[in-house]
Amino acid sequence: MVCWKTRGSSWSMRRRSVAACRGAPRRGRGCERSRHPGGCGLCSRAMKTVQFSRLGEPADVLEVQEVPTPAPGPGQVRVRLTARAIHPSDLMNVRGLYGRPPPLPFCPGNDAAGTVDAVGPEVKGFKVGDRVMLLLGATGGRGTWMEQVVVPAQMLVPTPAALSDAQAGALWVNYLSIWVMAVELLQVPQGGLLLQTAAGSQLGRAMMELARLRGFGLVNVVRRREQAEELKALGAENVVCTADERLPERVRALTGGKGVHWAIDAVGGTTGAQVVESLAVGGRCLLFGALDGRAISLEPGPVLFKELVIQGFWLTRWLQATPPERVRPVLETIIGHAVRGDFKPAIDQSFPLAQVKEAVVRAETPGRTGSVVLVP
Ligand SMILES: NC(=O)c1ccc[n+]([C@@H]2O[C@H](COP(=O)([O-])OP(=O)(O)OC[C@H]3O[C@@H](n4cnc5c(N)ncnc54)[C@H](OP(=O)(O)O)[C@@H]3O)[C@@H](O)[C@H]2O)c1
Repeated sequence: MVCWKTRGSSWSMRRRSVAACRGAPRRGRGCERSRHPGGCGLCSRAMKTVQFSRLGEPADVLEVQEVPTPAPGPGQVRVRLTARAIHPSDLMNVRGLYGRPPPLPFCPGNDAAGTVDAVGPEVKGFKVGDRVMLLLGATGGRGTWMEQVVVPAQMLVPTPAALSDAQAGALWVNYLSIWVMAVELLQVPQGGLLLQTAAGSQLGRAMMELARLRGFGLVNVVRRREQAEELKALGAENVVCTADERLPERVRALTGGKGVHWAIDAVGGTTGAQVVESLAVGGRCLLFGALDGRAISLEPGPVLFKELVIQGFWLTRWLQATPPERVRPVLETIIGHAVRGDFKPAIDQSFPLAQVKEAVVRAETPGRTGSVVLVP
């Protein structure tokens, strides 16, 4: 990511707004005659942003800084963020373990929701006060763990009344991922059986909602007994705890010895190897996480004789590589399910932006019941 001050939109637009505004700046209250109630860009208002200047443990390296509030230019909207989910990918990025290490200093975050607080020229369809959700990539890699962001209007969608701000700020990464993996890539049919690891994760729980909706079954793999019991109490079927049993034997018992045709693995290591061993002839597995941190050791024999397909999945890449006309209906379908209450992101705890260190620790504490969200 390029430092936000030097990225085209926010900073250069802000300088243009300085020249344009004739209102008298009032410290902390925006400009008298500005049509931007929160400040027009002329004001020296500062906003809080979370950033890190060195890679490391999130609780050690993340800090809250003050930076100038950006102003929206033509076609842009400024959003006062009210919710930003903390995802494992955000924390991997802080540790420098998520693909290419980010340029420093860097502000993390992707999923976010809030309220429109200023509208630039030539924007139609949004007004100050509207509740909105940011589409993934809306900030162009400038992060969302900050008070306000300026984004292109077309990267916003109205927040459905059925979703709280916290749920809206935790929707896209997980629900888009499950949809793309199960529906677009694996095309799990009605009546099919999909194996998923880290089934107690927020993404895993979202997959349970999708499986109910589309009528396919799941083999839900977790690492802790308490989580296995929790998922069973929630009605989850075929729960396997890797601390108690080997996955391939259980899968053989569930499938009459055949194995599963579809699997998604977020863990890797020995769990990932057991997932591959559990695949049926012609089976397909998407690797989409590396929670274990260790390599998957593969026996070439079963892979070639069963003609297995093991493929990576990265949502960012899918969004970049998929034509907008194919992405749009997927987004609309997910919003539709959120509106109807089929998709309900669970929220564990909310922390103010200023308590980001406590928030990132909570986001990795076993036993949480939903996404951890940063609020104003
Ligand atoms: N590739 C993509 O585009 C993409 C997109 C979205 C998400 N993801 C990945 O999907 C995974 C789940 O994301 P999330 O936001 O739903 O996570 P989350 O809610 O933070 O949950 C993480 C889950 O993983 C389990 N876990 C952690 N380390 C583990 C290990 N070594 N072995 C087995 N289980 C382990 C945790 O179990 P405990 O409760 O026992 O700690 C917890 O249930 C992450 O790996 C994330 O990076 C990938």
